[in-house]
Amino acid sequence: MGVATLAKIKSAASIGLEPILIDVEVDISNGLPSFLIVGLPDKAVDEARERVRAAIKNSNVQFPTRKITVNLAPADIKKEGPAYDLPIAIGLLLASEQIYPPENSLFLGELALNGDVRPITGAILFASLAQHQGIKTLYVPAANAAEAALISGIEVIPADNLINLIAHLRREKNIASQPPASLDPQSALLIDSAFDLKHVAGQEHAKRALEIAAAGRHNILMSGPPGSGKTMLAKGLITILPPLNITEALEVTKIHSISGLADPGQPLVWIRPFRSPHHTASAVAITGGGNWPKPGEISLAHQGVLFMDELPEFPRSVLDALRQPLEDRIVYISRAAMTTSFPANFMLVAAQNPCPCGYFGDPQKPCKCSAGQILNYQKRVSGPLLDRIDLHIHVPRISYEKLTGIGEYESSAAIRDRVISTWSIQQQRFSGSRTASNSEMNTEQVKQYCILTEDSHRLMRAAVDKMNLSGRGVNRTLKVARTIADLAKSPQVTAAHIAEALSYRLQG
Ligand SMILES: Nc1ncnc2c1ncn2[C@@H]1O[C@H](COP(=O)(O)OP(=O)(O)OP(=O)(O)O)[C@@H](O)[C@H]1O
Ligand SMILES: [Mg+2]
Repeated sequence: MGVATLAKIKSAASIGLEPILIDVEVDISNGLPSFLIVGLPDKAVDEARERVRAAIKNSNVQFPTRKITVNLAPADIKKEGPAYDLPIAIGLLLASEQIYPPENSLFLGELALNGDVRPITGAILFASLAQHQGIKTLYVPAANAAEAALISGIEVIPADNLINLIAHLRREKNIASQPPASLDPQSALLIDSAFDLKHVAGQEHAKRALEIAAAGRHNILMSGPPGSGKTMLAKGLITILPPLNITEALEVTKIHSISGLADPGQPLVWIRPFRSPHHTASAVAITGGGNWPKPGEISLAHQGVLFMDELPEFPRSVLDALRQPLEDRIVYISRAAMTTSFPANFMLVAAQNPCPCGYFGDPQKPCKCSAGQILNYQKRVSGPLLDRIDLHIHVPRISYEKLTGIGEYESSAAIRDRVISTWSIQQQRFSGSRTASNSEMNTEQVKQYCILTEDSHRLMRAAVDKMNLSGRGVNRTLKVARTIADLAKSPQVTAAHIAEALSYRLQG
């Protein structure tokens, strides 16, 4: 062996959803045997030394007993996690002239002590980085290969263990490259039929409101006694939303991948996410964050639904933290060393009982709560948050006859067809702007697109006086009315549309 050898292997890290190229430099020189990793590694990277040493020893290759220095560059980015094990091991074997990996390749993977290559998070992000950087071959853990192959134009080599990978790099035993993934949207229609709205008896009013919510991507709050079907209705929302398009599917897949939620068998997320965090979940779990920022529930619900059951039970701090992302559809996370952001364009579906016992306002069952208790309960959700919810509906208990009757109810597929039509109306309306749905219209757009008839003007004016509607309240009502008009394929917003939109503000 020479006096000093330097090897350089490409790897990658990510800050939030932004992937960055990392150079793993391995220097082997004469001196007392040692193994040092520099370049802002965290503890998991530091522990790579032990994993790499054991994995190499267990893979029928030599671990050089010389002075080894590994540098992870650029040095100003903190390196997290065990994904550098494989590039470090490959760098070591190159520096000690035991293998010669091809130029223009990128390595990712954690090593087990026996040399198995373990999965990492964010494979799709790194594959798209490789694509942008013109990298030819990507070596990834076998469990991440299908996900990496969602990105075209790069060769993906699945590595299951170090021995096989070494044999492949020595051209002794070939590993077949991962075939490109199919991006066929048909599977999007395989939505669990258990949540089909046809299973919900009665509740026509709530179903109508859900259809409006889905049509214009409005937030909705359902209030009603226990067991009236609120959770059932919320879960049904996913079944009436249009399928994700490929751009959205890739966005959602990236967020899920970085969170470790990717499914190796079905790497592309085709079904709109439905997330329902429990009210005991921490603020970080819901909005995102942590030392190494990870997406929270609101980002996992990106392009889908965030269901907050028992809304008043969530801590006030969590509810208030939702206000900014609800407005901006993106969440900013600041940490000492960095600021990052995650997309958070979700529909909020909230459910609550009207009071702690749940029966306030029920025509039959008496409510056991005191007036003070009821007020306290309802006050837990702040006005500004409620103001961001366009549709407020009451979901009453339904009669035994209705529940057990043999009524036929409209299927989710039929409702979804109408929702899809309104989405294409909105797509045309907002083409060229950053707005995607009626609920996202700015004041200017509300003026431009909510053209009222004389009757509807009169009705709106009367409502402002009687209901003390705020400026925001007026705008929100007009947006909902626009969606109702779109469902009716009406270019104008008529008095009937306004009246229905107002009815969703009155209750709740
Ligand atoms: N309208 C309905 N049609 C058919 N089944 C219903 C209906 N309402 C309630 N159910 C039945 O009752 C169960 C409970 O409903 P669900 O969990 O949706 O109620 P909820 O309103 O969310 O109650 P809670 O306030 O306690 O959370 C459902 O799983 C379903 O079996
Ligand atoms: Mg419920």
